[in-house]
Amino acid sequence: MKILVTGGAGFIGSHIAEACLRRGDEVIIIDNLTSGHRRNMASFIRDIQFVEGDVRDRKLLGICASGCDIVYHQAAIVSVPYSIEHPRETHDVNIVGTFNVLEAARDAKARRVVFACSAAVYGEDPELPKHEGMSALPISPYGLEKLTGEHYAKIFHALYGLETVSLRYFNVFGPRQDPKSPYSGVISIFVDRLLDGEMPTIFGDGEQCRDFVFVENVVQANLLAGSAPKAAGRSYNIGLGERTTLNQLVEMMGRLEGRPFAARYEAARPGDIRASFADISRARKELDYGPSVSVEEGLRRLLAYARSLRGA
Ligand code: UD1
Repeated sequence: MKILVTGGAGFIGSHIAEACLRRGDEVIIIDNLTSGHRRNMASFIRDIQFVEGDVRDRKLLGICASGCDIVYHQAAIVSVPYSIEHPRETHDVNIVGTFNVLEAARDAKARRVVFACSAAVYGEDPELPKHEGMSALPISPYGLEKLTGEHYAKIFHALYGLETVSLRYFNVFGPRQDPKSPYSGVISIFVDRLLDGEMPTIFGDGEQCRDFVFVENVVQANLLAGSAPKAAGRSYNIGLGERTTLNQLVEMMGRLEGRPFAARYEAARPGDIRASFADISRARKELDYGPSVSVEEGLRRLLAYARSLRGA
């Protein structure tokens, strides 16, 4: 099969590209290298076709999608606070970019697009765990942009027959997640702090919870979503199905590293969701998804990886 991965130099996209290569697919990556990095592709760049470009460039996407069977659309600006500060930019990348990918895939007669959606679509509805049947009421531009992308994906399926599958990622973590920006995912930042012997900052009281899911589980979900027969036009929660508070996270990290890891506390972030964790029964049933790496095991692997990078 021929596969296009948008955002394939990024954290999740690079792992998907690598997994596709391993099963023998031909892989094209388009990435503008804003939050992605060449180093994420270092181990396989010789085996793929890399196009440095942007999902806002519809013409270029048309060239990249030509002859592709499946598009894994991972390119996005993924930060909630960044979307609050720069809503026009995130609108353009996350909504117009997604529209462009869908249109290019349709025109290239690709069979399926797997869209990286987000648990941020659920917003503040207090019902837990989050399930796909509940209403989506996002509270940030980012959440709304991901919801809009998902709706566009469904419309493209209903109107044009393009098979689209939307995966609502919960809080994905693992190797290659960039810790260097204040907008980075919390685990990548905390691992950096831990290995630097510095204190992490918790925004709020630390009792907010997330469903942290190791990237390998998310790759499994993507590969399954590329072929599951009943998945076209559907949305799926992709998490672990467990909740972890930030206070628990910090405690677990300190324990794994064998030293105390105490946090300082600051005011909660605007637009932040208080509690989020997934009901993954739909993905289990329809995609045959079965996450196999726990939070603790994922943290152990991530710490080993981060330590090896420092040693290198
Ligand atoms: C994350 C993802 C988003 C995804 C969503 C799905 C990132 C950057 N964001 O958003 O793309 O769609 O999950 O659920 O990966 N925090 C601290 N200290 C820090 C950094 C963060 O306390 O130094 C807190 C935040 O205030 C928040 C929690 O940690 O309460 C998680 O934050 P973050 O990792 O940015 O993820 P989400 O906002 O949940």
